[in-house]
Amino acid sequence: MKTVMITGCSSGFGLEIARHFLDRDWQVVATMRTPRTDLLPASDRLRVVALDVTDADSVRAAIAAAGPIDALVNNAGIGLINPLEAVSTDTVRAVFETNTLGTIAMTQAVLPAMRARGAGVIVNVTSTVTLVPLPLLSVYRASKAAVNAFTESLALELAPLGIRTRLVLPGRAPDTRFGENARPLMQGEIPAAYAPLMDDVFKRMREPGPVTQAQDVARGVWQAVTDPAAPMRIPAGADAEALAASL
Ligand SMILES: NC(=O)c1ccc[n+]([C@@H]2O[C@H](COP(=O)([O-])OP(=O)(O)OC[C@H]3O[C@@H](n4cnc5c(N)ncnc54)[C@H](OP(=O)(O)O)[C@@H]3O)[C@@H](O)[C@H]2O)c1
Repeated sequence: MKTVMITGCSSGFGLEIARHFLDRDWQVVATMRTPRTDLLPASDRLRVVALDVTDADSVRAAIAAAGPIDALVNNAGIGLINPLEAVSTDTVRAVFETNTLGTIAMTQAVLPAMRARGAGVIVNVTSTVTLVPLPLLSVYRASKAAVNAFTESLALELAPLGIRTRLVLPGRAPDTRFGENARPLMQGEIPAAYAPLMDDVFKRMREPGPVTQAQDVARGVWQAVTDPAAPMRIPAGADAEALAASL
């Protein structure tokens, strides 16, 4: 039986990815900053393990607790939508610590065992915002675009060792806790000059149109993990697929 380890399973995509693999008879190591056993269906194939991807001790302990894994899904992430002038350096660091360095740290942590076994898959969840420039997302987009570049280079380095890396790019998913979790990072004072742009961006976000559901992302991750012929970049969600097809 194969084992997948997923980061950021307390809500949103991570929780749904964990459900998807559990439903398909995989062993699941669902990691959370604050472990909760009531979020997923009880199963002897499920282990809930504490993990903060920004904390080296926590990463070491979680990898040790997980044991051998066939697939790692780097899903944990935090969002930020704000003019750069209203973003503190501490917030920039926090976004990169989680989205970029956390992904790199987890990847480094699983590689020795995957190399020794000559097999493994690492799936990194980034975003379609990396595909086209949008205002107010400079820091978030940079943190995820770095993961795209990291993953694509690593694919070439690891293929000879039997290890695959893939990217899943979700579109906008208003139903997860993403927006709510980003709010505490968006407290900086915003100069009035940005008001028209902000009004326009938030108005567009409220317009009806296709969005991404957590199930779309779970299906994309499943394809990335189980299909060796899966493309390097997998858009997930109706809006993501439409955007990728338009480029
Ligand atoms: N929602 C969207 O519109 C959207 C679109 C494209 C891509 N994405 C990406 O998809 C991924 C999942 O987002 P989501 O929409 O499911 O948002 P979410 O509901 O906020 O889930 C994010 C998860 O990441 C966890 N997390 C945050 N910081 C962490 C850390 N330092 N260590 C470990 N876990 C941490 C959160 O845990 P806590 O509960 O402990 O905070 C939560 O479980 C993120 O990488 C995000 O950037 C989201």
